[in-house]
Amino acid sequence: MSRLWSAVVRRLTPYVPGEQPRLPGLVKLNTNENPYGPSPRVLEALRAESADTLRLYPDPNAERLKVAIAGFFAADRILPGQVFVGNGSDEVLAHVFLALLKHARPLLFPDISYSFYPVYCGLYDIEFVTVPLSDDYAIRVDDYGRPNGGIIFPNPNAPTGCLLPLAEIERLLTAHPDSVVVIDEAYIDFGGETAIALVNQFANLLVVQTLSKSRSLAGLRVGFAVGHADLIEALERVKNSFNSYPLDRLAIAGAVAAMDDREHFETTRQAVMRSRDELISAMENLGFSVLPSAANFIFARHPQHDAGTLADALRQRSIIVRHFRQPRVEQFLRITIGNDTQCKTLLAALREILAAASA
Ligand SMILES: Cc1ncc(COP(=O)(O)O)c(C=O)c1O
Repeated sequence: MSRLWSAVVRRLTPYVPGEQPRLPGLVKLNTNENPYGPSPRVLEALRAESADTLRLYPDPNAERLKVAIAGFFAADRILPGQVFVGNGSDEVLAHVFLALLKHARPLLFPDISYSFYPVYCGLYDIEFVTVPLSDDYAIRVDDYGRPNGGIIFPNPNAPTGCLLPLAEIERLLTAHPDSVVVIDEAYIDFGGETAIALVNQFANLLVVQTLSKSRSLAGLRVGFAVGHADLIEALERVKNSFNSYPLDRLAIAGAVAAMDDREHFETTRQAVMRSRDELISAMENLGFSVLPSAANFIFARHPQHDAGTLADALRQRSIIVRHFRQPRVEQFLRITIGNDTQCKTLLAALREILAAASA
């Protein structure tokens, strides 16, 4: 630890992202990326934007993108002034924690959830209390009935993949009119219904989404939040006190094209959902129990096989999945839904590993 570090940095415990090894032939099922490429219209937009204009700063407000996002949610009557955009939903979330979730009362989130949340609390010195998931790993709205300075969770939850129905979110919002409730919908397009439909009804609701998963743009780094204009203004105040240009020209152009190409979005998310359902049945046939998933990953355990040992055996076969050494979930593997070939390779490897272990 350097004596030159600030006191804040000394006490930080940073988030550890899933590894990104660059090995040929690797079956990479550890960070919930989309197995299909982004829309060809995105690539075209990026090429068109790679021009002399890169010498100029981008629009600090990314207005074109806010208009495209509002347009995508036109049926929910969303206006561009209700949209905030940032460099990946991680950056959007960081601003949310500082702008809307730092209060005298503790922030609430599930005990099993996105592990970046406690990291932001450490960075911004936000008190938090974790609320245990039920024995079947579900979020129970009634367990949040205590004084709080805000509530946040992913829906579907990560790393479980379990979905909370919209009616339950509505019940939570009604019960906590004086708290900001943040629904992190990184995976909502793989089987859930977005809470953006409730934004005009509840001024305390903020919904965060990303283009990293269902629009296959993890490498472009674009995320957004939708909520009441007052909540958005709070986020803009933090953003404009931190970095005026979080989205570069390429990110804005690519993200607009991605939001506009509904057909590519539909076909690829349907393909992922189909593969997920097939993978779940095949894994259950191998004896795994798999939590119900509305995401582009599954959370699975085998009653007779240790998850850490299985993850190591898969790794020896060049397949990487995510294993969390964390209470309550250390016997689970989180497996991203790959394309058909990747799913087949995974299943063949699991069959072989299980057979070798019982021989
Ligand atoms: C629940 C959840 N929220 C947010 C993110 C951040 O995504 P990004 O920063 O790529 O938008 C992730 C990434 O895996 C996630 O799992």
